[in-house]
Amino acid sequence: MSEIMPPRQRILSGVQPSGKLHIGNYFGAIKQHIERQQHGDCFYFIADYHALTTLKEAEEKEISAAAKSKGTTPRPARQILADNVRDVALDYLALGLDPAKATFFRQSDVPEVTELAWILSTTAGMGLLERATSYKDKVARGITPSVGLFTYPILMAADILIYRSHLVPVGKDQEQHLEMTRDIAGAFNHAFGEVFPLPEAVFNEAAVVPGTDGQKMSKSYGNTIDIFAEGKPLERAVMGIVTDKTPLEAPLNPETCNVFSLYKLFAAREEVEALAVKYRAGGFGYGAAKKELLAKIDAYFAKARERRKLLERDPGQVEEVLTAGAVRARTTAQITMRLVRAAVGIGPRPVA
Ligand code: TRP
Repeated sequence: MSEIMPPRQRILSGVQPSGKLHIGNYFGAIKQHIERQQHGDCFYFIADYHALTTLKEAEEKEISAAAKSKGTTPRPARQILADNVRDVALDYLALGLDPAKATFFRQSDVPEVTELAWILSTTAGMGLLERATSYKDKVARGITPSVGLFTYPILMAADILIYRSHLVPVGKDQEQHLEMTRDIAGAFNHAFGEVFPLPEAVFNEAAVVPGTDGQKMSKSYGNTIDIFAEGKPLERAVMGIVTDKTPLEAPLNPETCNVFSLYKLFAAREEVEALAVKYRAGGFGYGAAKKELLAKIDAYFAKARERRKLLERDPGQVEEVLTAGAVRARTTAQITMRLVRAAVGIGPRPVA
């Protein structure tokens, strides 16, 4: 007896390999990505082609950081990219991405995506790209733009469309890129016929994760707590969280406290309530609260940390996962490209 299952939706998202992941990344995206692997046909990839658009900036940052703290040598761009790709792969696998459930791969292992990006660029409007706020923001931050930085949204559209994705879980910051993807798909369909389904963005529930200074946690603010930090560095980050100057005897207000906001992300409801009671009772200082938070973070990621260490010792296994993912992803990409090439009149590529 066979059960009739509704067709599984293709869920796709790309992750920029941009260095150490912090708990803002975890609660903002990674956690949802991993939970979704139970509920759909998930494709997740490491966006290394995209990372090339800001690699020079990353390299310059390392050079200036190294100039400030003696004894560190800045890595060349190619090393930064290779390390970051490897780190994202380790991070996701350690945090629970299951390659038996989700297809996990490197963007550049499916080179057809650049072919599609080219074809889409011939029907995408110049004005559409000129309105991209993420491009304008990057230029305003002082990046000297390459053509690739400008056409970033076309490659992103190609990523999404080549796998005929239905749902794209992303942060709110990617909202415009998703609208552009729909426009780009629409322009192609209008010119050549209905090839692409229009994808929908699904926004990760906006978990507000404050950084150690109370602003939104972000690498660019230098206020992060890294997911895989442990021991002294973790302790230093947590003990350094900014709090107000309420004297020890006085009651504390949990609603306005960064330590408390972070604790809420890691603890069960009863534990959160118990901590609120201690805050309001007085005689409970921020130092003690931070120690409770530290213990929670430490325990929360303990298993992932162990898994990451094991995987780190077995680079072959990580490579195998990514290769197998790429084979699966590429099969889908090639089917789409046959449709695209036929639609524009290029026709199938001769079999070599
Ligand atoms: N631009 C996305 C980010 O910066 C990364 C990305 C690249 C992506 N291609 C994608 C996300 C396709 C979703 C779908 O986070």
